[in-house]
Amino acid sequence: MKDKAVLAYSGGLDTSIAINWLQENYNVDVIALLVDVGQPGNLKKAAEKALKAGAVESLIVEAKKDFAENYVASSLIANAVYEGKYPLATALSRPLIGKALAEKAKQSKAKYIAHGCTGKGNDQVRIELAAAAIAPDIKIIAPVRKHKMTRSQAIDYAKEKGIEVEAKKKSPYSIDENLWGRSAECGILEDPWVEPPKAAYAWTVDPQDAPDKHLYINIGFKSGVPISIDEHKLSFDKLIANLNEIGGRFGIGRIDQVENRLVGIKSREIYEAPAATILIAAHRELEALVLEREMLHFKQSLEHKYAQLIYNGQWFSPLKEAMDAFFVQSQCNVEGEVRLKLYKGNATVVGRSSKYSLYDLGLATYEEGDTFDQAKAEGFIELFGMSFKTWARKNK
Ligand code: ARG
Repeated sequence: MKDKAVLAYSGGLDTSIAINWLQENYNVDVIALLVDVGQPGNLKKAAEKALKAGAVESLIVEAKKDFAENYVASSLIANAVYEGKYPLATALSRPLIGKALAEKAKQSKAKYIAHGCTGKGNDQVRIELAAAAIAPDIKIIAPVRKHKMTRSQAIDYAKEKGIEVEAKKKSPYSIDENLWGRSAECGILEDPWVEPPKAAYAWTVDPQDAPDKHLYINIGFKSGVPISIDEHKLSFDKLIANLNEIGGRFGIGRIDQVENRLVGIKSREIYEAPAATILIAAHRELEALVLEREMLHFKQSLEHKYAQLIYNGQWFSPLKEAMDAFFVQSQCNVEGEVRLKLYKGNATVVGRSSKYSLYDLGLATYEEGDTFDQAKAEGFIELFGMSFKTWARKNK
């Protein structure tokens, strides 16, 4: 009996020719695995294409809910953004895909896992480390990394092997999409001085073409996770899809970033993440209202590290797991409503409320009803400033 390889399949040219290439170079039966994390396109048709290209089995893993509830939600409660900007859409999908590959490989007793990542990116690391968490000794084959093929070589190879190539001209960019956002790189975007052409964007309108009238929306949260839009309850995956649509119409969530890849390269990326942009802004504001000061500040100091772990493919790591426990615990009172105003590329929080609000009007007000005893401030500064004043006297 032949050995098997489970291939992370996207339906694109690279992973389609990989099927044939794996058969010829490794003499394996190929199982194509397409994971649905909310990317657009006809996935059923893509899966059928894998069979035509020679896969012995082709399956779609329906993972939108799993992705939203077990990957995106963890990232959102940590307000995770890489290098202050990127909400990590691609980075979040890779551990799920790597896990699905390893599980299928175990179940079908496959010797190999294969993926179409290049050797220059983060995705290879994320997929391989996630797979290793489930199957530490599984063998990896990465045809694209091994045999750098140009686009035209790949087309020639496909034609030679009778593999269907889509007639329409492929986008000049390398695109990755899922519920949490869209990533675009390559082509003219590689010049960090050049403004992204209109065609680099697909989910969002140019803010200057967005409606002249603003829109207010209300997001409801429970345990740090969004549960409703304008009091209308939605599952998290549907809520995200909904906000991507609304936010996209208002030109919200365009991110132009030069980032540090794990492999040591700086790269220029264009992201579109309307829902992520809206929800992270809303979540932060709700936390500001309900989290006790020390909790809030300490949590913020962890968020940067957590985003790095996600970016670097350390999703299934002991540190990430321990940090998750902290973040989940921190969210028990993150419940309430946040009101945002969407207008020409901006999602501005204009209101927040919660039954766990720590905002005490009596303490805060400068109007009537002040309960803050200002006389106590004098002694407070005296003690708080004691060590400082001692230092100041010496160092005058
Ligand atoms: N630079 C981003 C990341 O590392 C996006 C990668 C996008 N991948 C792609 N095939 N276009 O997460």
